[in-house]
Amino acid sequence: MTDLQFIFQRYPGAKRDALIPILQEVQDVQGYLSRDSVIAVGQYLGLPASKVYGVATFYNQFRFQPLGRYNIQVCRGTACHVKGSLGVLESLKRSLGIDAGQTTRDGLFSIEVVACLGACGLAPVLCINGEFHGNLKPESLGKLLSTLRKEAAANA
Ligand code: FES
Repeated sequence: MTDLQFIFQRYPGAKRDALIPILQEVQDVQGYLSRDSVIAVGQYLGLPASKVYGVATFYNQFRFQPLGRYNIQVCRGTACHVKGSLGVLESLKRSLGIDAGQTTRDGLFSIEVVACLGACGLAPVLCINGEFHGNLKPESLGKLLSTLRKEAAANA
């Protein structure tokens, strides 16, 4: 049984109101919503794929690309906001050439905007694959990204 079949069997006779919970489960299992998954969910619920996309893109919890090797979670909680997390996020987006919810073409980095990471004393904070980086300034991102690129190259 495929992952999707396993999920669908838990929603017998499901209709449109099951769309969000099903998409959440698919993303939990597969890490993102692939084109094939979106089509399959639509077929199961009797909805066109365009409708499924329309709903899923409305919620920023859903992603349509796999996470990067380094998933950079940018905290946008209140403490981090006050300490300049928006500037950090904008600088990160510019440096990587992607938006929040996207992954770089080389699959190395993805950006995810999250609520309070529980490390407000370190604001503004990033969490990269579970490791916290605090007291960040937009200008310190270049060094951080280059360290990660070197690490990835060394472990390729
Ligand atoms: S607000 Fe960012 S860690 Fe709490």
